Amino acid sequence: MFSQRLTNLTPYVPGEQPQDRSYIKLNTNENPYPPSPAVMDVLATMDADALRRYPDPSMTAFREAVADAYGIDPAQVFAGNGSDEVLSFAFFAFFDGSQGPLRFPALTYSFYPVYCNYYDIPYETIPLDEHSRVNLPAMTDAGPSCGLIFANPNAPTGIALPLSAIEAVLSGYPRDRVVVVDEAYVDFGGETALPLIQSHPNLLVIRTVSKCMSLAGMRLGYAMGDPALIQALFTTKDAFNSYPVDAVAQAVGVAAMKDMTYTRERIQAVIASRDRFVTTISNLGWRVRPSAANFVLAGKPGITGETVYKTLRDAGILVRYFNLPGVADSVRITIGTDDEMDRLVAAIRQCWPE
Ligand SMILES: Cc1ncc(COP(=O)(O)O)c(C=O)c1O
Repeated sequence: MFSQRLTNLTPYVPGEQPQDRSYIKLNTNENPYPPSPAVMDVLATMDADALRRYPDPSMTAFREAVADAYGIDPAQVFAGNGSDEVLSFAFFAFFDGSQGPLRFPALTYSFYPVYCNYYDIPYETIPLDEHSRVNLPAMTDAGPSCGLIFANPNAPTGIALPLSAIEAVLSGYPRDRVVVVDEAYVDFGGETALPLIQSHPNLLVIRTVSKCMSLAGMRLGYAMGDPALIQALFTTKDAFNSYPVDAVAQAVGVAAMKDMTYTRERIQAVIASRDRFVTTISNLGWRVRPSAANFVLAGKPGITGETVYKTLRDAGILVRYFNLPGVADSVRITIGTDDEMDRLVAAIRQCWPE
């Protein structure tokens, strides 16, 4: 009944979205603030009759809005049903193992090996360096590769690389192989590689509206790069689904892209809450990695991440625990509102009195 392909699949496991009770939800890196009022206006005034029609398969208005927001050409922009789908198309379009394995960090977004498995792409992972940073030089020094992918800031560490490190790796990397930088969290304190797409036709930058624009429920992500890369993503999309971004998502995406002032304000609020929270739990003796994202990886010395996760869950607070080498002593905590972070700190003080 089932294909051999299906039998061999190992699916990604997303963070839990439990319905059994109400939790303070700090486990899936969602934004604690509502989307822009401009988004609310679009949804409130949407003409339902227009939904009779299929959406624009070229996603023109949204791609133009992205291009305007970042000062690039719409031909340099692709969009998809969440950046997960854009990533999946990129894996299909650019990586096939013919010039060596795809390389990515040993600790990063755990969807990357899942896509490799799905598309049968050989891959090799490279350990983080001694400061838990993505080790870009080691990713290229390890021998030929059919491409590179990494998240900046990385997940689940939250640690960002400077633009100069990305520039350095690109300058030594073959121009006929694609380097993907996954910038899902860049707005919360990382340095974007976007300016480099003008001089590096093999660089693809992938972003999402899920985190910084509070639109995770909408499913809208995008990629920016050389028009030839964008064209390859369109070819991939058109062999899979002509309309991955529905009409509502396209209209909402345009409104969100045009309201960068609101987005920037909310990002600043998340950054301020993060910095305040990091100071507080560091003072309580927790180890926290320096995060440039809307989450922190933190642990209490002597207690496993799994215990922290379970204890906080019982206290009505969801965080994420990864049973992976190097991070099993920590949990990943999404930054919520100041009130949510205060309640987390109160629970921490109660569960682990000093
Ligand atoms: C590093 C990274 N990239 C991409 C995504 C996917 O984001 P989305 O599909 O919501 O755009 C996530 C989601 O958690 C992520 O952590």
